[in-house]
Amino acid sequence: MAIDPTSPVPKYSQLRDLLLDWIVETGLSVDDPIPSERELGQRYELSRMTVRQTVDLLVSEGKLYRVPGKGTFVARPKIEMSLALASFTEDMRARGFRPGAQDLVRRVLPASGGTARAMGLEPETPVHHIERLRTADGEPMAVERSSIPLDLAPGLDGHSLAGRSLYEVLEQEYGIILDSGEQTIEAGVCDPADAKLLGLPQGSPVLSMRRRSFANGRCVELATSRYRADRYTLHSRLDPRRPGGS
Ligand code: GLP
Repeated sequence: MAIDPTSPVPKYSQLRDLLLDWIVETGLSVDDPIPSERELGQRYELSRMTVRQTVDLLVSEGKLYRVPGKGTFVARPKIEMSLALASFTEDMRARGFRPGAQDLVRRVLPASGGTARAMGLEPETPVHHIERLRTADGEPMAVERSSIPLDLAPGLDGHSLAGRSLYEVLEQEYGIILDSGEQTIEAGVCDPADAKLLGLPQGSPVLSMRRRSFANGRCVELATSRYRADRYTLHSRLDPRRPGGS
């Protein structure tokens, strides 16, 4: 396949699709190098600038990565973010990764107005404030900040969550089994603190997820998680529209 100069699709975008097909067809796998920008320019009869634009795009999409002085390589496929009421631990295990957690902050704080409203609590109700760095096979994946009412899990601050599942602790120590939840996901950028924790340049894209989880109608957890957008993708099944439905 060659670039079609008469196509309305920009050349860098055509090259993106050609390169991705070529990677599959030639059986390149993770960490394999792709040809240099000069070689790609010659092969597809494109300027170095256009090739650079395509490679930049594929790097920003997480399909390729660059190693300064070495070249450009095929990146690992992204992890599909679960849209179920699953824990990080369950999610990672199901995908064949070793889940991990580092306890960053553990405190009991009065709930702010916003947190209290979202959780159906009186303002200033004491909540556990938990901040954790989540890892998969030792690699930082997400920063998670959770609030949990103190009365539901007294003494939770005394349980280390390093390398442990919060949902397992809630179930095993407090008999809390989450039975419903809701989640909002939006695009965001890493602030300097999260960038450092995730090992990313400042301003890198993240998927910002806000989840409320319930047990027996009571909000147990309000969590904001920042997931690396270069490692995660979202997938959802689409059901047919029902007449009269929204
Ligand atoms: C997901 C949710 C978090 C929740 C966590 C519990 O990542 N986004 O809100 O705190 O799961 O995971 P684990 O039980 O592994 O600690």
